[in-house]
This record gives sequence, C-alpha cells and structure tokens, in this order.
Amino acid sequence: MKEKLQQIKEAALSELKAADCDTEALRVRYLGKKGELTAVLRGMGALTPEERPVVGQMANEVRAEIEAALAVRVAEEKEKALNDRLAREKLDVTMPGTPSRMGHQHPLTRAQREMEEIFIGMGFEIAEGPEVEYDYYNFKALNIPENHPARDTQDTFYITDNILLRSQTSPVQVRVMEKQSPPIRVISPGRVYRSDALDATHSPLFHQMEGLVVDKGITMSDLKGTLETFAKKMFGEETKIRFRPHHFPFTEPSAEVDVSCFVCGGKGCRVCKGEGWIEILGAGMVHPFVLENCGIDPEVYSGFAFGMGLERVTMTRYGIDDIRLFYENDERFLKQF
Ligand code: PHE
Repeated sequence: MKEKLQQIKEAALSELKAADCDTEALRVRYLGKKGELTAVLRGMGALTPEERPVVGQMANEVRAEIEAALAVRVAEEKEKALNDRLAREKLDVTMPGTPSRMGHQHPLTRAQREMEEIFIGMGFEIAEGPEVEYDYYNFKALNIPENHPARDTQDTFYITDNILLRSQTSPVQVRVMEKQSPPIRVISPGRVYRSDALDATHSPLFHQMEGLVVDKGITMSDLKGTLETFAKKMFGEETKIRFRPHHFPFTEPSAEVDVSCFVCGGKGCRVCKGEGWIEILGAGMVHPFVLENCGIDPEVYSGFAFGMGLERVTMTRYGIDDIRLFYENDERFLKQF
C-alpha cells in the first residue's frame, strides 16, 4: 500500500510538470471522491491496526503534497493567462491618433454672421419671420394688392390661395411693426423663394437680409449713412455707394443701391462686368400706407427699409460666379472658405 501511495505521488507530480496538463482533470482523477487516493484509503480496512495510522499519515502527506503542487501549477497558469492577456491588449497611448477633420461654417452663413455683426454694432436687433407666409404679409400689407404687376416679378410657390412661401423678407417688416412701436431698428435674415428656374444667377431658394428703421424724424440721409457704413465695413473703407431711382410698392421714394467695385475700385473689371459698380440691394423710405397698415401714424413717424440678397453680396465679396455652388455641397468649393 505504501508503494501504491508512493506511485500515486510520483505519477501525479510528474504529470503536473507536463506542459499540456489539465489541472482540473488531474485533481478529480487523484484527489476526487472516486479518485485514486480515495480508492487507496478505502482499502485501509484490510490493514492491521498498527499499519493503519502509518499508512493514514502517509496518505495525508501524499494528498498534501499533490494539493500543494497543484496549487502552484494553477497559480502559474493564472499568471501566464493574465500576462498573455496584458500583452495581447497592450495599448500605446503615446501613438499618434487618427486626426478627425473639422468642418466649418458655410460661406453663406459666414457672410450672414458678418453682416449681422456689422448691423448689431449700429444698434440693430435681429427679427425673424416664417418662411411659410400669408399672402397678406408678403404682398397686401406691403401695398401690393392682388393683380398688381409687382407680383409678376415675385412669383412664388403657393400652398393655398392665401398661404405661400415668402418671396422676400419684407413681410417681417410688417410683423415687427404690428408688434412693436417705434423706435424700431431691426434686421431680418432668412430664406426666400421664387418660382425661378435654376441657373448661374437664379435659384428658386435664396436668402435675403431685410433692414427696417422707424422713428420720429428718420430721413433718407439716415438710410444713406447706414448703408454707407455697412458697405465700408463689408467691402473695405474705400467703398462708395450710389443710389439709382427705382420703384418698390412699399417704399417711397425707392432706390436700388450699388457699391463701387472693390476689385477695380470703379475702373471697370471682370467682377463688375466693366461697370465699376455692383448692385447689392433695394431700399427706400417706408411707404405711409405700409405704416398705416401696421397701426403706426405716418404723420408722426417715418422710416427706411432695405433688402439685400445674401447670395449676391457673398458672390460679390468672394468673386463666386455661379449661385448653384452654394447649394451643391461640393467640398472642393466649400473648402476654399
Ligand atoms: N423686398 C425687396 C425685393 O425683394 C427689396 C426691398 C426691401 C426693397 C426693402 C425696398 C425695401 O426686391
């Protein structure tokens, strides 16, 4: 029996040294309830009373030795598994990362923000109005009755007979004057729509920025001064402005306003098409009918208004020759700003 125990010990210890040893199977096979060591202990009944404690002690020692060796092996395996995992999952935090590309504002947004800054600096506030608008605000309140020929140049998209996509930002003038009493000093940037075919200079969707000032004693010279200050800030200190008589139903008198070409300084070049001047906006003194429509007494108050095309100003400013470039989202174009 002692020999048997000795054999078991040697066999177990040598198996434990093998590289591919399955420690759990080994434990079951030698130390488990149906294991070899247990089988030997079961046979102890056949021993003499003197032999029993000797063999019993030896069996305990063998068990203890195998258990100890097994524990060492299991610990080694655990450590090896951990080291393997650490090596596999190693992360070098000093490695250079993949740079993520930064986007930036669209050229139209940039121009709009720049224009807003200039007007805010002159004491204007920003007012907004809906793009889906009533006929009343877009036309009637602005002194453009049904069947007025001015509607032809501003044909738009109708949702019902009464509701349309606004063809200009001028309806915001009316909405502001209805709500607020003078003094009023607002600009209103936003999208407008016209049923124009898309080409290099026309788009069924574009942007305008409206301006409106109403107070006691506002005159055309206030309009000129405001626009001149804007033009110099936007296009450079040398810029001059020029008023040409025009007609808008909601201003009287009305004018179209040009800026001297900031590329050639007025001599005539490709950007201004040889004119020396570039048209950027429509303007005028708010028509007394419009003031009345909004509950403001034209005997007491007067005002001026202007409206400019954001695309037009941006194209002029950056020398862009095709309006479609703004809407195509071609990165080769957008990256240049
Ligand atoms: N709303 C006019 C247009 O779209 C521009 C304008 C605005 C003219 C304000 C005068 C005053 O053509």
